[in-house]
Amino acid sequence: MRLAILTSGGDCPGLNAVIRAVVRTAINKYGYECVGSRNGWRGLATGDVIPLPLSSVSGILYRGGTILGTSRFNPCENNETTAHILEHINLHAIGAVICVGGDGTLRASHEMALKGIHIVGVPKTIDNDIASTDVTFGFYTAVQVVTDALDRLHTTAESHHRIMLVEVMGRDTGWIALMAGLAGGADMILIPEKPFNYDKLCDALKKRHKTKNFSIVVVAEGAKPDDGDTVTLGKLDSFGRPRFGGIGYLLSDEIEKRTGIETRVTVLGHTQRGGTPVAFDRILATRFGVAAVDAVAAGQFDHFIALRGEQLIPIPIADGIGKTKMADSEIYEIAEIFFG
Ligand code: F6P
Repeated sequence: MRLAILTSGGDCPGLNAVIRAVVRTAINKYGYECVGSRNGWRGLATGDVIPLPLSSVSGILYRGGTILGTSRFNPCENNETTAHILEHINLHAIGAVICVGGDGTLRASHEMALKGIHIVGVPKTIDNDIASTDVTFGFYTAVQVVTDALDRLHTTAESHHRIMLVEVMGRDTGWIALMAGLAGGADMILIPEKPFNYDKLCDALKKRHKTKNFSIVVVAEGAKPDDGDTVTLGKLDSFGRPRFGGIGYLLSDEIEKRTGIETRVTVLGHTQRGGTPVAFDRILATRFGVAAVDAVAAGQFDHFIALRGEQLIPIPIADGIGKTKMADSEIYEIAEIFFG
């Protein structure tokens, strides 16, 4: 059988580990042949399909990004696109497709499965907010990047007696902010799940600065005040979602005005998604890749792989999509003990 793999949506560390695991398992365990659709579904729509022999995945385990490229390309955007994909699948005699992507990609993959394509999904999001899987690979790398930044910002904040505001990824959920804030000793963590109040926030910072001379505040890009909206850049991404960013600068102006304490902003942006995956993510991504090929071999199509406790299990895509996993409120309560 010829097995295709594609990576779709925003990249994250560990994608190459999944590709490597899929190719190695497919060829060595099942005797399949592998091909890659470049730049997500776009490759299958345009015929940009490349062979993936064992040599193509040599030396990529530790590399960030994806050797296949990625895009936010909707395979169901119109009948013509879908027809082109089906044509190329027939032309290349592709027996199954492994789709690595976030909620939007998995939703589109389900629609393609309904059109007769044998699909197995691998969930991916740096934000770690897909409810049906305990963790997604790449997340702990992002947490490590932010934690390292917080360690560095601590020393300079202390030297200059400043408030340091660190804006991190997290559109709808504050997982990265929460976990990195906990690991990096943040004095305040602002997440989308808990709209903040400017008066309370500034009072807490002023109180802290009676005994301490610096503060570290971590803010998720999707955080918002209880009397206002999220801050977007006024632009849409290729899935038509607003591009987030800017809450850090807005907050810092307001905090500085209200507290009189010098406040500086660091926006970590895509540094959180780039570079080499931490060991945990390499292992998880490898396990996801192997489990996806096992699901193909077992004929469990229109399913995606989910981590449940220590187990990786295939679940129907339709059951697993569209459910957002909010940041854990019990963990937030633990983080709060260290605020102020
Ligand atoms: O959805 C994952 C994510 O990293 C968000 O946290 C962020 O808002 C978005 O993707 C950024 O996407 P892009 O790289 O397309 O700007």
